[in-house]
Amino acid sequence: MSVVAITNHKGGVGKTTLTYSLAYEYALGGYSVLLVDLDPSGNLTIAMDQDPYEEGEVNLANIISEGESFDPGLIKRSVTKGFATFDILPSNDELYRVESMGNGIQSLFSLKDYLNETGLRTSYDFIFIDTPPNLGILTNIALVTSDYFLVPVSPGKYALKGLDRMFKVATMVKKRINKNLEFLGIVINNFRKHEQPSRALEKSVIDLYGDAYITPPIRRTVDVQKSEIISEPIQLAFPNSLAVRDLKRLSQGVLKRVKKQKA
Ligand SMILES: Nc1ncnc2c1ncn2[C@@H]1O[C@H](COP(=O)(O)OP(=O)(O)O)[C@@H](O)[C@H]1O
Ligand SMILES: [Mg+2]
Repeated sequence: MSVVAITNHKGGVGKTTLTYSLAYEYALGGYSVLLVDLDPSGNLTIAMDQDPYEEGEVNLANIISEGESFDPGLIKRSVTKGFATFDILPSNDELYRVESMGNGIQSLFSLKDYLNETGLRTSYDFIFIDTPPNLGILTNIALVTSDYFLVPVSPGKYALKGLDRMFKVATMVKKRINKNLEFLGIVINNFRKHEQPSRALEKSVIDLYGDAYITPPIRRTVDVQKSEIISEPIQLAFPNSLAVRDLKRLSQGVLKRVKKQKA
């Protein structure tokens, strides 16, 4: 069982897309998968066709802000897409309230405690945590809860700028709070081989991160957006898409690293 946070405090790099596609890939491969949507905007929840919580329903925000150990049956949803079924703890905008609370020690451990106390942590092969585009409390909670963090980046002038801040936060979390946390690697998304910004980014990633660069990069294709609009994983909507080929290889690369780090 592995808990993987997908983090980069820059928005629009593909955190949610990769979380969803990797989860689907592993679910298809017979692994049991739980997703946790820690982004108050709920993009992953919506991508999976789930309604955000109704007012009054218990949800992730209650768990994080009040440390309550509600029955997961009240919170978890099971989603079937094509031939794969996986579970999600959905987000809703009450998480914005949590974001504004600050870094209380109780909330930092809330999700980790919840997954442990309810037995969720050991009931899945993979738990993926999607995070919001900032380094606030929710991203911290994800790092405190996880065994690994995976960082997607996307071509552009400032693609790697500011990432050192995220690594500093992760290093601090590992040193002080969660010694199990490991950097799983960096993934390039929205890749276009013939475009200079993509090539420049790949060169920088190789120079700066070396072996931590998980190949192949995921190509940019409109199929990703089209599948997002119809709330289907791209593997299901466009099985022949070039991005699907990349994602399948990426999922194998990620799996290999998880197994290697565990060995
Ligand atoms: N490989 C790709 N090709 C084309 N569009 C992509 C690709 N990856 C992500 N996108 C699109 O870019 C947007 C931002 O991606 P998203 O996963 O939501 O980023 P984040 O979660 O980091 O904010 C989405 O509309 C998504 O459909
Ligand atoms: Mg997102």
